[in-house]
Amino acid sequence: MAERDQASKRPRSDEESATLPSDEARRKRNIKCFAYVAAFVVFQTIIILVFALTVMRIKTPVLKLRSVTVQNLNVVPGTSPSFRMTLIAQVTIKNKNFGHYKFDNSTATVSYGDVTVGEAQIAKGRAKARNTRKMNITMEVTSDQLSGNSNLSNDVSSGMLILNSYAKLSGKVQLMKIMKKRKTVEMNCTMRLNLTSQAIEDLNCE
Ligand SMILES: *[C@@H]1O[C@H](CO)[C@@H](O)[C@H](O)[C@H]1NC(C)=O
Ligand SMILES: *[C@@H]1O[C@H](CO)[C@@H](O)[C@H](O)[C@H]1NC(C)=O
Ligand SMILES: *[C@@H]1O[C@H](CO)[C@@H](O)[C@H](O)[C@H]1NC(C)=O
Ligand SMILES: *[C@@H]1O[C@H](CO)[C@@H](O)[C@H](O)[C@H]1NC(C)=O
Ligand SMILES: *[C@@H]1O[C@H](CO)[C@@H](O)[C@H](O)[C@H]1NC(C)=O
Repeated sequence: MAERDQASKRPRSDEESATLPSDEARRKRNIKCFAYVAAFVVFQTIIILVFALTVMRIKTPVLKLRSVTVQNLNVVPGTSPSFRMTLIAQVTIKNKNFGHYKFDNSTATVSYGDVTVGEAQIAKGRAKARNTRKMNITMEVTSDQLSGNSNLSNDVSSGMLILNSYAKLSGKVQLMKIMKKRKTVEMNCTMRLNLTSQAIEDLNCE
């Protein structure tokens, strides 16, 4: 720009002879300038696109039941069987977002058939950005609600109990204090409890 100002200030006598090359040079400069601007715009667009597709894209966190440990198992076989135990579920919340996932308190349940036999509170909390949060959920499980259940004596005498574990978290992913999106994550798993080995043998999650 400064060069061009100088060029226009040149004395008239020079201008006559300089007109043609100067116009040509100016045209070339303009083309060059335009090329720079275009390249910059393309570059900016790519940066913004990459940013929108990676950093700003909100992914649903993943709630997973990793393993379940059985403690204090007490089974009473017979005509009116019953059981009692403590289940410790190791759960992870995987958050691949570039912002934290903040979830409300909720309830995890264990059920037998469609009867709830145990539950536990999941305290509200947050999973940090691009991080996996681990939690242990301790649930007291009893057959109190199952008296008269026709399947229980069969299962107890076969040495296998099929249990289902369910939890749902609702919360928000927050990106850079400006973007918030509600995300609900669920976990629904069935497992077989071997009453002899007192261990969970088959953990299957949807
Ligand atoms: C969350 O906590 C509040 C207050 O402690 C309680 O009233 C509510 O039932 C809890 N919600 C769930 C889903 O457990
Ligand atoms: C959960 O329990 C396991 C095994 O009992 C233990 O190794 C782990 O440190 C516990 N994790 C948390 C977050 O309390
Ligand atoms: C017993 O198990 C069968 C098959 O799994 C199921 O259809 C039925 O509802 C169960 N009965 C009770 C009382 O839970
Ligand atoms: C969990 O999955 C089972 C089938 O695997 C389904 O019958 C049940 O309704 C599901 N539970 C919830 C709460 O979605
Ligand atoms: C339960 O565990 C015992 C002891 O580990 C094993 O002998 C048995 O085969 C298991 N039962 C089933 C049905 O897998």
